[in-house]
Formats: sequence, structure tokens, C-alpha cells
Amino acid sequence: MTDKKPDSLPVEKYRPTSLNEVKGQEEIVTTVRKFVTSGKLPHLLFYGPPGTGKTSTIIALAREIYGPNYKNMVLELNASDDRGIDVVRNQIKNFASTRQIFGMGSNSNGGSSMKGERLFKLIILDEADSMTNVAQNSLRRIIEKYIKNCRFCILANYSHKLNPALISRCTRFRFNPINEESIRERMKTVILKEKVEIEDDALDSLLTLSNGDMRRALNVLQACKAALGQDSVNNVIDIDMIYDCIGAPHPQDIENCLDSILKDDWTTSYLTLLKYKNVKGLALIDLITGFIELLGKYKLKSKTRLEILKNLSDIEYGISRGGNDKIQTSAIIGVIKDAMEFEK
Ligand SMILES: Nc1ncnc2c1ncn2[C@@H]1O[C@H](COP(=O)(O)OP(=O)(O)OP(=O)(O)O)[C@@H](O)[C@H]1O
Ligand SMILES: [Mg+2]
Repeated sequence: MTDKKPDSLPVEKYRPTSLNEVKGQEEIVTTVRKFVTSGKLPHLLFYGPPGTGKTSTIIALAREIYGPNYKNMVLELNASDDRGIDVVRNQIKNFASTRQIFGMGSNSNGGSSMKGERLFKLIILDEADSMTNVAQNSLRRIIEKYIKNCRFCILANYSHKLNPALISRCTRFRFNPINEESIRERMKTVILKEKVEIEDDALDSLLTLSNGDMRRALNVLQACKAALGQDSVNNVIDIDMIYDCIGAPHPQDIENCLDSILKDDWTTSYLTLLKYKNVKGLALIDLITGFIELLGKYKLKSKTRLEILKNLSDIEYGISRGGNDKIQTSAIIGVIKDAMEFEK
């Protein structure tokens, strides 16, 4: 046994260390920085889908403000760990009621800092939407009580899960899914640093499949690198690897299945679908989603399209209710073949 571990690519390794490294959220970064430089930092609420940089942004911001004093001045609470309000209240109370620190923002990193203002302590409440309603309610009072020396930054995926009164105490920023160009830029840096290569079409698929979630993109890249293993001969990530690692069906497989339904007789189509399901591990639900996407690109009469969509959605519902796999597979073939009759 060798103790040589495969070189991993932990997502944490590529967490932005400064605000400049936060990609695709430039407007938010600029606005928040202005708050800091003008010394008027309000309570903040960052919300939006996973992997878009909420936690990274606030941590990078805090590093810019506090530099080496980060540990004394910032309290990071993960609301989904410490769900009870008593825990939160006590931790905040202990942290906030220690002696206030006055002075200028430390600027050792060359970043911006609060100028000439009393320096607020920062309490980061991550994943606040998983806090109970009671906890959120009492948080309102806590926020007001410590307003003299603390600023809160609340992070959440869904703003609708937050108490409206809590939201109204904060300046809100919505983090949108990161655009493909920004993810591409970041991926290129990571690929270079990790000394792997990626084919152009593989990178394109990685960007599309990650759906604006940078964490997902990094995770897939990490899985692909692990799949390459120690094999130093072949260091190139190709498109098949991306689909395999992400667990998404390969578009070519979906196309072959649909082709078979459209062109072959019923039995051949059935056997083809069965083969792809067994050999490639395609799930019926993936097939339905893939067919709908593909058929969207075909020129069809609206009646045909309507029939297919209506019936496939019924099948999808059937599958979600635990319908029999073989029956549902047959039904898919039947639905598409039937609807295609309108094209004749
Ligand atoms: N805008 C971004 N720029 C650069 N890297 C990013 C960005 N967003 C996310 N990442 C990468 O993805 C990882 C996860 O990001 P982060 O924890 O900030 O996401 P989040 O928005 O807080 O997600 P969640 O809602 O799941 O908590 C980071 O370690 C970082 O490597
Ligand atoms: Mg987060």
C-alpha cells in the first residue's frame, strides 16, 4: 500500500480570499465596499441560490475591514447547526457585550476599511432561513439591542423563509446565479493551478451543467481530476467525464433513444431504451426531461407538441408516485409514437 494520496482539489482551497476574487457579483461588491469606505455599514441580508458567493463575499469583506483583527471582531454562526435561539442569543450576547473596540479599521491587506468611524463588530448568521420562526422573532430584538456596536449579516437561500420584520431591518442583496463567463474565468484559473487540461466542449458542458453554481462547477472538476487519477499520461478531461461525474445523461444517449422511438418499430425502441437504462444507468425521469428538451428543438405541429407534453407530464407524475418502470417506459414510447401520427 502506498501512502501517496491523490492530489485533491478541495472547493475550500478556491474560496475567494479577497473581494476582487468574487466573480460575477461585481455590483454587490461595489455597493458593499462603498458602505464600508463611507463608514455607514447597515445590517446586510445576502440571499440567493447555493454556490453563488454569499458566504465568500461576507468573509472576504470582513477580512478587508478587519485584517488581522478578524478573529476578535467577527462572529460566524451557522444557524443550521445551532438552531435553538438560546444558543444563538448567548453566543451573540457574549460576543457583543465584550468591551467595544474603537479605532480605525486595520488596513494591513491594502484593502478598504471603515474610515475614522467606530469599528463595528460583525456577526455573520449563515443559513438563517433554517432557523425556527421563534428564533427569528427573538433575533429581531437582539439585532436592535446590539445596534450600537454590532452589525449583522444574514445569509440565506430563500428570503421568503425569513421573517419580514427581520428582512426590513437589513439592506437586501440578491445573489443571482453566476454568469457563464465568470465561471469560465474562475475555472480557467483553477485548471491552470491544478495542472489539468480540459477539452473545449467539456468546459462548455461543465458551465452549462453547473447552472450558475460555482461550488458545483468546482466539485465536478474535483471529481474529474480524481477520476484521472495518478495516470499522468492522460491529463485531459473530456466531455464524457463531465457527464459521468455530474451524473447527468449524455445528450448523445438521449438522442439515440429518441431516434429509435421515432424510427424503429415498437419492440426495437423498447429494447433500445432498456439497454440504455441498464447499461448507461439512465433514469426514466432523465429520459423524459431530455426528450422534452430535444423535442423543443424540433419543428412540430402545435397539436403534436401539446399531446407529447401533456402525456409525458402525466407519466412523470406517475413515476414520482412510484409507478411501474416497465409500464412507464412503454407509455413513453407509446405517447411519442402516437403524437407523431399528427405529423403525417
Ligand atoms: N462569486 C464567486 N466567485 C468565486 N468563487 C465563488 C463564487 N461563488 C462561489 N464560489 C466558490 O464556491 C464555493 C462556495 O461558495 P459560497 O460558500 O460563497 O457559496 P454560498 O452562496 O454561500 O452558498 P450556500 O447558499 O450554499 O451557502 C466557494 O468556496 C468558492 O470557491
Ligand atoms: Mg453559504
